[in-house]
Amino acid sequence: MDFPDRFSDLPEYAFPRLRSLLDSHKPGGAPLAMTIGEPQHPYPDWVGPTIAEAAAGFGKYPVNEGSEMLLGAISGWISRRYAIAVAPERLLALNGTREGLYNAAMALCPEAKGGQAPLVLMPNPFYQVYAVAALSVGAEPRYLPATHETGFLPDLDAIAPETLDRTAIFYLCSPSNPQGAVASEAYLKRLLELAERHDFRVFADECYSEIWRETPPPGALAVAAAMGADPERLVVFNSLSKRSNLPGLRAGFAAGGPESIRRMRQLRNYAGAPLPLPLQAVAAKAWSDEAHVIENRALYAAKYDIADAVLGDVPGYAAPEAGFFLWLPVADGEAAALKAWRETGVRVLPGAYLGRDVNGENPGKGYVRVAMVAPANEMQRGLETLRDCLYD
Ligand SMILES: Cc1ncc(COP(=O)(O)O)c(C=O)c1O
Repeated sequence: MDFPDRFSDLPEYAFPRLRSLLDSHKPGGAPLAMTIGEPQHPYPDWVGPTIAEAAAGFGKYPVNEGSEMLLGAISGWISRRYAIAVAPERLLALNGTREGLYNAAMALCPEAKGGQAPLVLMPNPFYQVYAVAALSVGAEPRYLPATHETGFLPDLDAIAPETLDRTAIFYLCSPSNPQGAVASEAYLKRLLELAERHDFRVFADECYSEIWRETPPPGALAVAAAMGADPERLVVFNSLSKRSNLPGLRAGFAAGGPESIRRMRQLRNYAGAPLPLPLQAVAAKAWSDEAHVIENRALYAAKYDIADAVLGDVPGYAAPEAGFFLWLPVADGEAAALKAWRETGVRVLPGAYLGRDVNGENPGKGYVRVAMVAPANEMQRGLETLRDCLYD
């Protein structure tokens, strides 16, 4: 029996890999997981009642592209957040951004660029679905270092013009996971200019856009609108998972040019799994409410302050601008994660598990990723324990 080769070279996924690294060792203290980016703050208390009120919708096939109510709520949120109008025809409801980030490549990546297999560019380290999407469409993933030296985003000026000419899709993650870096308006503008000049698409993963510290991160949709960019150059992805602490709701959206969205909707008509109607009702309510998002941000603000107070003296520590991860420099991420587990019971993720080796270098190697999702007092204890274990 033959099996396909296209995914054969994928490294083991980060979390099973972490279990293999740690689980044969005894924890040195009460286990405390700081690995997975699963939000732990409460979701709004109207979520349950809203599902119950809309429960009759479980007896219907859901609207594939998103109900009028949901798309209207998303459009309203975009206009309040970015002061731009995006019509519902330019929106598609998703079961969270991950499937959208994948399916957008299926719907929009051309078979070839300049007679060759297209390139799909992405930051390194990165959210892993980008690479699998590229492989699925027969494109070649290219990993662009996003390091301390490059401001933790790919250095756009370091990409060779020949590479850009072969590029079909550029995945950008801002605010970035894992480093918490934010692309400025100037950065987004430059990327969209390059996309125009070299004829590629930008897929902007903005799912951490509402967890920020000082100022709201700029959105690619607003930058594209201000510069009059071709709307088909850009698809933006966002979700309620982080914004509203609803990762289990699986509710996100894609916003792009009308033709891009038409093609994504067409693929979804054939092969998509639409969001159940009662969940679309909750999602519509969540996009329409900002009070719970402000409360959520206040909880993270306290955590950023705790991180600064505990880790501020650690050489190379940089507070994240947004998102809920700390990207802590260490000599070797795997060795540090193992030491922390064996000596203290705190679990962190080796940065290399989120990156790829390019020319023998993995830009995540000298880091561990720490999620600030546990309750503040637990998180503080975890960070103090890590500081004493890894930096004393
Ligand atoms: C950078 C990034 N993009 C996308 C996602 C997917 O989120 P969801 O599918 O829950 O919207 C995540 C989840 O952790 C993420 O970290």
